[in-house]
Amino acid sequence: MAQPCDDLTGRVALVVGGSGGIGAATARQLARAGARIVIGYHQGRTAATALLSELPGTGHRAMLVAIDDSASIRRLADEIADAYGRLDILVNAAGMTRAIPHDDLDALDDATIDRVFAVNLRGPLATIRALKPLLQATGDAVVVNISSTSAFTGRGSNIAYAAAKAGLDTLTRSLARALAPAIRVVGVSPGSVETDFVPGRDREALQRQARASPLQRVIEPDDVARAVLACVTHLKAATGIRIVVDGGSHL
Ligand SMILES: NC(=O)c1ccc[n+]([C@@H]2O[C@H](COP(=O)([O-])OP(=O)(O)OC[C@H]3O[C@@H](n4cnc5c(N)ncnc54)[C@H](OP(=O)(O)O)[C@@H]3O)[C@@H](O)[C@H]2O)c1
Repeated sequence: MAQPCDDLTGRVALVVGGSGGIGAATARQLARAGARIVIGYHQGRTAATALLSELPGTGHRAMLVAIDDSASIRRLADEIADAYGRLDILVNAAGMTRAIPHDDLDALDDATIDRVFAVNLRGPLATIRALKPLLQATGDAVVVNISSTSAFTGRGSNIAYAAAKAGLDTLTRSLARALAPAIRVVGVSPGSVETDFVPGRDREALQRQARASPLQRVIEPDDVARAVLACVTHLKAATGIRIVVDGGSHL
């Protein structure tokens, strides 16, 4: 009998940013569906180790990666090839930002702009580049880029972050065409999500935004993780698309 499409038994999934809020929720969803998970962490070794011990199933590992350092990403690719010999699913869920008022252009200095672009835009591209041979070899792989509604609203923590995510959306479309048919490339675009992503943002601010949105709910990491899972398991005929998970707040 054919394997049900939501059964990921035998598949290997790398979640870059698996030590973070959205990445950890995604790792749990993919592990529950049967995949073996590589948790990509940077400074969050403790969080990655804790997540590793609670994931259902076996064969999971935590691996260090700095996505602003292409040599580090290449080492990760080698480590995955040695440990598993395959990669079916790549979730690019790492990112960083700082809250900077959009009209305060002096606060948005060159170092901040470069860092925001290196982590949120160059990082996912360099990661896909390094892992392309492994993904391509499966013939049926998928990359999910975690973007943001900032990419098309121009709102959010700062304007460089919004521009970097807009760039990521363009990458998703270009790579969907370039890497087909062996690799699908899709984007999931959350609005504000309850994690520690934006330094200084508290739950009250998230609740205020939620009350002003059509669905009036705070978006949880699991809401985003379920969208990622759907892209991997059910949306098999989709590539180059963007799934928005924001309770309608962009409307
Ligand atoms: N939360 C939101 O409101 C929201 C909204 C829209 C989009 N997003 C996007 O969702 C993604 C996940 O964010 P989150 O909410 O889960 O935030 P989070 O909890 O702060 O997680 C961020 C993750 O990125 C990793 N990371 C940061 N810099 C890195 C680097 N140089 N190399 C490798 N990994 C690095 C962190 O790793 P370590 O902790 O191990 O250092 C962590 O796992 C990001 O792409 C973000 O832009 C978030």
